[in-house]
Amino acid sequence: MPRDIDWENLGFNYMKLPYRYIAYYRDGNWEKGELTEDSTLHISESSPALHYGQQAFEGLKAYRTKSGTIQLFRPDENAKRLQRTAERLLMPQVPVDLFVEACKQVTKANDAFVPPYGTGGTLYLRPLLIGVGDIIGVQPAQEYIFTVFAMPVGNYFKGGLTPTNFLVADDFDRAAPYGTGAAKVGGNYAASLLPGKKAKAAGFSDVIYLDPATHTKIEEVGSANFFGITANNEFITPLSPSILPSITKYSLLYLAEHRLGMTPVEGDVYLSDLEKFIEAGACGTAAVISPIGGIQHGDNFHVFYSESEVGPVTRKLYDELTGIQFGDVEAPDGWIVTID
Ligand code: PLP
Ligand code: COI
Repeated sequence: MPRDIDWENLGFNYMKLPYRYIAYYRDGNWEKGELTEDSTLHISESSPALHYGQQAFEGLKAYRTKSGTIQLFRPDENAKRLQRTAERLLMPQVPVDLFVEACKQVTKANDAFVPPYGTGGTLYLRPLLIGVGDIIGVQPAQEYIFTVFAMPVGNYFKGGLTPTNFLVADDFDRAAPYGTGAAKVGGNYAASLLPGKKAKAAGFSDVIYLDPATHTKIEEVGSANFFGITANNEFITPLSPSILPSITKYSLLYLAEHRLGMTPVEGDVYLSDLEKFIEAGACGTAAVISPIGGIQHGDNFHVFYSESEVGPVTRKLYDELTGIQFGDVEAPDGWIVTID
């Protein structure tokens, strides 16, 4: 184990680890990929990924269990989402097996950087698919690079399980109604940089985006999905073609119903309905479950459960989800992939 890493206080920062995986797509086929120690990519200056945003990424984590083994959480779902994103951007499909194998190899090769059980840290894996090669017209690349790199991470939002506040964006959208909001492409995040900067400068953790067509419904956070809990024991989360279909969110919908006896609902979440939520949170791989203390919308500040304490239902969902991810709670079939 590297001795100089403060596992308990990692935050969410890049760290150059010894190994990453790389595979090239040329002449219509994926070539055999391999682990490499080279952390730089060598690509044409005219690569479509650079000019026209023909690129996609994923995010998933490896978890150290109490017994010291390492496991991945639903990597096949990330593989399938990357395939859907690739379809939207005319990129070749990375086969699910290739994706999962690359994640396993990178995790195993960087074993010493998977944080110890009990520190709260995890190994964050970042799969990336980019269109490369000598093309200058607006058209899909002929060649692609698929790479997976990794780093140990802690909390994405600094509060962890302490609630933080979010700002509703009235004057910005991250995606268009029939754009690429449901695809995990860099352009969505580029669009979120300026509103994100303004929100953070004003003391908020991040932005909550509204539906781009009417600006009356909550869509999602710039880096996570939104959920709310009602007094009727419902777990409610927005359904929209312009939000990223979060694997964490779908896992929570399942766990809320099957483990906590709640009613799972995917549907419209109108800004005017915020009073019905007794708790709310942001969920995602990086965000895990980050309780939302309050939401600022114009002059109105709406507090959910408390600005300083996580609500009891959010806490139960967090314990169930992270218990499964760290191997302390039995997982639904197929959710866990063990690294051997
Ligand atoms: N929404 C956005 C915009 C994201 O970047 C992420 C992160 O991946 C999520 C939601 C959560 O998705 P997941 O739970 O699959 O990580
Ligand atoms: C993730 O949760 O994996 C994400 O991709 C969010 C990212 C913006 C850090």
